[in-house]
Amino acid sequence: AAISEIKKGRHRPGDTLVVKGWVRTRRDSKSGLSFINLYDGSCFDSLQVVAPERLGNYRAEVTRLTTGCALVVKGQLVASVGQQQALELLAEEVTVVGWVDDPESYPMAPKRHSIEYLREHAHLRPRTNVIGSVARIRNCISQAIHRFFDQQGFLWVASPIITASDCEGAGQMFRVSTLDLQELPRDEQGRVDFGQDFFGKETFLTVSGQLNAEAYACALSKVYTFGPTFRAENSNTSRHLAEFWMVEPEVAFSDLDDSAQLAEALLKAICRAVLAESVDDLRFLSGYVGEDLLARLDQLAGMDFVHINYTEAVAILAQAPREFEFPVYWGADLSSEHERYLTEEHFKSPVVVKNYPKDIKSFYMKVNDDGTTVAAMDVLAPGIGEIIGGSQREHRLEVLDARMAELGMKPEDYEWYRQLRRYGTVPHAGFGLGLERMVAYVTGLGNVRDAIPFPRTPRNASF
Ligand code: 4AD
Ligand code: MG
Repeated sequence: AAISEIKKGRHRPGDTLVVKGWVRTRRDSKSGLSFINLYDGSCFDSLQVVAPERLGNYRAEVTRLTTGCALVVKGQLVASVGQQQALELLAEEVTVVGWVDDPESYPMAPKRHSIEYLREHAHLRPRTNVIGSVARIRNCISQAIHRFFDQQGFLWVASPIITASDCEGAGQMFRVSTLDLQELPRDEQGRVDFGQDFFGKETFLTVSGQLNAEAYACALSKVYTFGPTFRAENSNTSRHLAEFWMVEPEVAFSDLDDSAQLAEALLKAICRAVLAESVDDLRFLSGYVGEDLLARLDQLAGMDFVHINYTEAVAILAQAPREFEFPVYWGADLSSEHERYLTEEHFKSPVVVKNYPKDIKSFYMKVNDDGTTVAAMDVLAPGIGEIIGGSQREHRLEVLDARMAELGMKPEDYEWYRQLRRYGTVPHAGFGLGLERMVAYVTGLGNVRDAIPFPRTPRNASF
């Protein structure tokens, strides 16, 4: 039985069960009983196993168990006399499946380790309360996302990982190649000619599934992608990973405001799901980070987000009664300190910023009638900053072509994307939610390195 099933009351006192897991702690009483805290990760709680002296391997094995040992325990579920738990397992058989070699050096001794220390032991950190809670909450959020879109009639479509296009145009792509660059021929300008490579052209790990999602939205109306994306972003911050998961809905016959509403509804649905399903983990993490996360999520789920234009955001920042490291002027991108000022100090609410200058945004965004801004939006959350980026897409071929020319992009590289505008083009819009930023926000940990099992950051791809 999973410990979560016992916790949910699926088993009664008197039932004989087999429970499998890892020892958290062991304590022996003078009266010839050992109390073992057994954890299987199915929920926050561990199960108290009471092992009596009469077990055949009591002296030889049970009293030598240390933190981390793997056990199979058969026993009877009984009401506990202790205050800590309602039920405990009275062991009839304790089988040690795996011992811990050299317990003194076991890196996950039962004490509070620093979050940085845990990152250096990414293979063992899921055994801790904190990373176990994060893993369960991440799962809860992912399932809630799928449920949300399913209920709204969206199709989940797979977008490719290997691609030839740079969706965001930021040149932050990891190259995919089967060949040694030194050995590839070069053209007259000295550029590597990828014609001999596996795909016959230069290819990369995708930075976003959006362009492919657009193709499916322009046929199946409402779709979303949900998968890993990659960015060779050389920034060592608490918000950037080289490999992260993104949820990208794309909707035909819709505009920027539809997208902003969808984004708000999605974020609220996620908060409600975590509140409903992960209370124990949220309570534990609240103590860990020193903030009432249940109140935080409850508030977010209930409030109307502030919607402002980029131009208004800049005006607010220019009048802020304090200095910023990065200057604020119309045309500059908002940096994280600006985002945090807007959400944490000025509005004290999540903020949707819309209609950014076109020069700081990607080629595919719909150019507004003013000719200088695009129908883009960012959703900013207190404590983390930008959590969602989205836009209405440019569906007019001539405007798209003009934008691509302006940016020096070659139309032939995007021929398939251009065809979507030639054959039954339609206004459409969508956005991307960074899963790790959401998890970092919900868990209160605030660092995306702790929101994904095995983080990839500059000079760190171990494990
Ligand atoms: O704002 P971004 O770059 O938007 C896009 O990629 C669009 N193509 C999405 C779309 O419209 N379909 O990224 C979207 C979100 C960000 O708001 C952020 O939450 C997350 O993805 N993100 C990252 N998360 C972790 N590490 C990084 N390096 C990230 N870059 C973006
Ligand atoms: Mg963005």
